Amino acid sequence: MELAGLSVASAAATEYPVSTHPRVLVVAGPGNNGGDGLVAARHLHHFGHTVSICYPKPTDRPLYNGLVTQCRSLGLQFLTSEELQASPLNTRFDVVLDALFGFSFKGEPRPPFDAIIDMLKPGANPPPIVAVDIPSGWDVEAGDAAGTGLRPDMLVSLTAPKLCAKHFAGSHHYLGGRFVPPQIKEKYRLQLPAYSGVSQCVRVGGSGRSPAAGPANVADMRLSYGAGGRSLDEADLAEAGPMAEFDAWFKLAASCGVQEPNAMSLATASASGAPSVRYVLLKGYDERGFVWYTNYDSSKGKQLEENAAASIAFWWEPLQRQVRVEGVVEKVPDEESDAYFYSRPRGHQIGALVSMQSMPLRHGRQELEDRAAWLEAQYADETAPVPRPPHWGGFLLRPLSIEFWQGRPSRLHDRLRYVRQSAGSQEWRLERLAP
Ligand SMILES: Cc1cc2nc3c(=O)[nH]c(=O)nc-3n(C[C@H](O)[C@H](O)[C@H](O)COP(=O)(O)O)c2cc1C
Repeated sequence: MELAGLSVASAAATEYPVSTHPRVLVVAGPGNNGGDGLVAARHLHHFGHTVSICYPKPTDRPLYNGLVTQCRSLGLQFLTSEELQASPLNTRFDVVLDALFGFSFKGEPRPPFDAIIDMLKPGANPPPIVAVDIPSGWDVEAGDAAGTGLRPDMLVSLTAPKLCAKHFAGSHHYLGGRFVPPQIKEKYRLQLPAYSGVSQCVRVGGSGRSPAAGPANVADMRLSYGAGGRSLDEADLAEAGPMAEFDAWFKLAASCGVQEPNAMSLATASASGAPSVRYVLLKGYDERGFVWYTNYDSSKGKQLEENAAASIAFWWEPLQRQVRVEGVVEKVPDEESDAYFYSRPRGHQIGALVSMQSMPLRHGRQELEDRAAWLEAQYADETAPVPRPPHWGGFLLRPLSIEFWQGRPSRLHDRLRYVRQSAGSQEWRLERLAP
């Protein structure tokens, strides 16, 4: 139930994120389906939604009582069915999670569920509905045979889609419940799609476009920032200065699900000022500045040789935060590059020897693979160290300005920038910039 509820919440929040659908109503029935709904309610709260629950016939069993206690202790609002019926759902909620009845439901819904289901029918003009496993009132095989039932916008099938999913005509069909043991898969010949990465859900169909697929028109791709309520005030900044502030932001980004929080865009320019930008990985930061490793003979290496000015930027989407740094670059001392080089896996050490980064491969990829095979043979004896090539090492960006950017509603973002006169100065001036 925990994993099922988590996958329902993940799928729902993917299609109806807090930025566009902050107010969620969960209607929970007395059985398993209702339990999944209560777990999903809790997770949606943690994802930042404002969640209300209507659970008119609570099941008096320890598991369910525990779920209610958890939801109440998080401050989730519980509504009676009468309170729910007091005004149309679309005036109070942006999306409804239908967890009333699951696949074992038969017959006609009884009070108070009949009235709740009526509020979810198309005639009542409800907000988009996310059905958990089966739209409430549907038959597990025939679906909505009479054609008078719910028309959910999204269906989250659990463990495997039930037969009635064939009749689902809404925008988003997801599968959740990534816990089916192989024996069960084989026994029932389930053909389940692959989940990607650590995802708890996978999109399996639906008529609508998913944010993952991208909207039809790129100009319509727009998140509204600031729903999480974060702001950035001068008084919040670390007393110890911008690197301490960066440290706090970086650690928060690393703890909130950003896959590679240390990925940063690095802009360099030739002596004549022609710019070039690419991503690299931050490999260290301290009071001196920001360090990454690369090939000194690469395009960026050559540009930095002739023009030491550079800029980096981080974007941490879940926090709606950006950090921008501008400054001057120098090579890190050899010992520092050695220390990092020998901390890398041996294959990566050999990789640094293989690639003449940014040079054209005139004989195609084969040239690279032949060189890799040759070098691997050269260094087959794992007791012999791989020498760090002199053209591979670290760069240090000493900042002259560091800007902390926090997304806020209506594009009225917060921007606080630290500036100093020279890389040796300890005197940082703080200024707020217009967004
Ligand atoms: C997420 C990400 C991280 C990367 N990290 C590095 C890195 O740390 N060092 C590096 O030399 N290239 C890294 N690359 C590859 C660079 O983006 C780039 O292709 C390469 O350094 C050659 O750039 P240049 O021709 O401008 O010198 C990374 C690419 C991505 C997408």
